[in-house]
Amino acid sequence: MKRRKHLRPLSLLLCLVVVLALLLSTPPSSAQRGNDVERRVNALLARMTLAEKLGQLQQLDGEGNGNFRPEHLELVRKGLLGSTLGVRNGGQPNKLQRVAMEESRLKIPLLFGFDTIHGYRTIFPIPLAEAASWDPSLAERSSSIAAKESYAAGLRWTFAPMVDIARDPRWGRITEGAGEDPFLGAAFARARVRGFQGDDYSQPGKVLACAKHWVGYGAAEGGRDYNTTEMSEQTLRSIYFPPFKAAIDAGVGTFMSAFNALNGVPTSANHFTLTKVLRDEWKFDGFVVSDYTSVKELINHGYAANDKEAAWLALNAGVDMEMVSRLFNQHGAALLNEKKWTQATIDEAVRRVLRIKFRLGLFERPYVDESLEKTAHLTAESRTVAREIAGKSMVLLKNDRETLPLAKTVGSIAVIGPLADDNRSPLGWWSGDGKDEDTVTPLTGIRAKVSSQTKVTYAKGCDITGDSDAGFVEAVAAARSSDVAVVFVGESKDMAGEAASRVTLDLPGRQMDLVKEVARAGKPTIVVLINGRPPAIGWIVDNVPAILEAWMAGTESGNAIADILFGDVNPGGKLPVTFPRVTGQVPIYYNHLNTGRPPEANNRYTAKYFDAPWTPQFPFGFGLSYTQFKISNVAVSATQIRPDGTIRVTADVENTGKRAGDEVVQLYIRDVTATITRPVKELKGFQRVTLQPGAKRSLEFVLGPEHLGFYNRDMKFVVEPGEFRVMVGSNSQDVIEKTFEVR
Ligand code: NOJ
Repeated sequence: MKRRKHLRPLSLLLCLVVVLALLLSTPPSSAQRGNDVERRVNALLARMTLAEKLGQLQQLDGEGNGNFRPEHLELVRKGLLGSTLGVRNGGQPNKLQRVAMEESRLKIPLLFGFDTIHGYRTIFPIPLAEAASWDPSLAERSSSIAAKESYAAGLRWTFAPMVDIARDPRWGRITEGAGEDPFLGAAFARARVRGFQGDDYSQPGKVLACAKHWVGYGAAEGGRDYNTTEMSEQTLRSIYFPPFKAAIDAGVGTFMSAFNALNGVPTSANHFTLTKVLRDEWKFDGFVVSDYTSVKELINHGYAANDKEAAWLALNAGVDMEMVSRLFNQHGAALLNEKKWTQATIDEAVRRVLRIKFRLGLFERPYVDESLEKTAHLTAESRTVAREIAGKSMVLLKNDRETLPLAKTVGSIAVIGPLADDNRSPLGWWSGDGKDEDTVTPLTGIRAKVSSQTKVTYAKGCDITGDSDAGFVEAVAAARSSDVAVVFVGESKDMAGEAASRVTLDLPGRQMDLVKEVARAGKPTIVVLINGRPPAIGWIVDNVPAILEAWMAGTESGNAIADILFGDVNPGGKLPVTFPRVTGQVPIYYNHLNTGRPPEANNRYTAKYFDAPWTPQFPFGFGLSYTQFKISNVAVSATQIRPDGTIRVTADVENTGKRAGDEVVQLYIRDVTATITRPVKELKGFQRVTLQPGAKRSLEFVLGPEHLGFYNRDMKFVVEPGEFRVMVGSNSQDVIEKTFEVR
């Protein structure tokens, strides 16, 4: 009895401790965390002056070298700055943050943003190239390394991914996106957001992502950057929106409004896109930052009469944070007085910014560990990943008589061309803090790969641009005296990217002449393209036995190219964008409408050109391998389904050649007759598989309403009854077709 009496309170206490410990160790649910964030946002908002609120809506850029500007100190002290662009490295963010956290009244942390697009210090292939891997998991890996490196430099936010669909390769920014297709684009948008943000962007090594440029920027008329776009709502919803929606579904925290006007209304003051679609339909609760001075540019558009009107229109339409121009701050008080802005609208914009700052954990962890910079940047491991991704992004366009791969023991090799030893161009546009001197050039990569007996002769031949052919003689001599010639041609770093639209897709300068001269030397000639957009290279395709599209493939370019040239890596990339024969075919994209007069060779009065074929040089989805694949047994699981039903599509893929390799099996559909005309093909599934020689794999794709439906004339997403074609193949042209019916 006595003993029992004594034990009871003790065991009770023990139970209590266990229960308490359990309770404390259970992390709060996301709903609890969400409520907590909203409570904190509202409490903070209630304490803010109008000036402090407007301060949160202001982003200013730092100096080119990553330092903050002297004026930032005072603005931060007064609570008049919410975010910076480009302030990074060497403790700069921490220094400025300390002022916010220790000297400002409300101690609201700053948010440090930067354009980490395809790598920060380790540069990965341009996003267009990564999309050519048709393996979104690679983009997730590179973005996750880019996030880690950015975080180590003091950054918490990247202005990426750029998810603009681009159907016009004259537009330089085609380089920054995933190409012309919304389905592939959506897959890469999701992957990049996941890579940057992870499951929880408040974690160390993760950064907040930003889906840009909302929206239609990629459809700039004539491919001229910043130009106007005109398109139907139907096209907008079915082609240009899906990657943005995918970014939201992956949890993206911010959006960037674009520079262009869309159907007459600038996208940085477009209520339809910024509020009706983004907020009302998609329930996005992050914030929207304008593009660089795009609020002020409303005046140039002819949409706002002056600065005050520009601020008025942009905030009311749904822009929350203003990048670089300062019109919200300069005119906010007057706009509120004049009742052009309401307090509720201002508060809502501030609420969105604060919400993200709380979710980022910035209030708890405003600083980053400066020592990370030394250990996190350009590690051996990230270089290895960069090399792997670069190899998987390259596309073999032609390989007659098995010209490639070359033997490492080849007696002599001429390495020719202005891009053969260029360490700058392969980094591509927006190369973060990537350094030219870290780039492995093709020449270095080849030298490291070949046997010690191989004689490597380098000749530049000509510059990327310019008229001089003074180097041709040396280049031709190098080719003549070698067993094989590899010519590296393409574009310079600044020829693709922002403000780099081109009127021609031809190789710039004398490069095509150089290839012609070298090819005439009579040795097996291989052309490697280092470029940021589809080129027009008809003569090369007709006359040179092997062509590799290597893109601007980042820090490890040269090693990855050598891996492929010498067969250590078997190329398996596929084009994420159609390659035209000549610039005049643009826009040329695979998922076009059929017209009433589809092209016919022997019928003049059909939709084609008088002076060039209507077909592309290389179709969307095209790419070769050192082995061969056979796709067979394409079958559908039903001949009829209901509009809300699903259907399984199966196919076999077999490696019929002698090397292990990758094939990207692609699935397209066509809704044959509908109340609004539908594309001749639409990508709705793809799988990249690795197969050993002789190996065969059965693949399955499931198609449901989300694949079969479209936006009808009332902008309702519907699956209409009727015949559907399903096409499975190794590119958008070589397909096996089956049909089924929706009833
Ligand atoms: C302008 C570009 O359009 C945008 O993509 C970029 O994020 C900003 N500048 C900031 O550098």
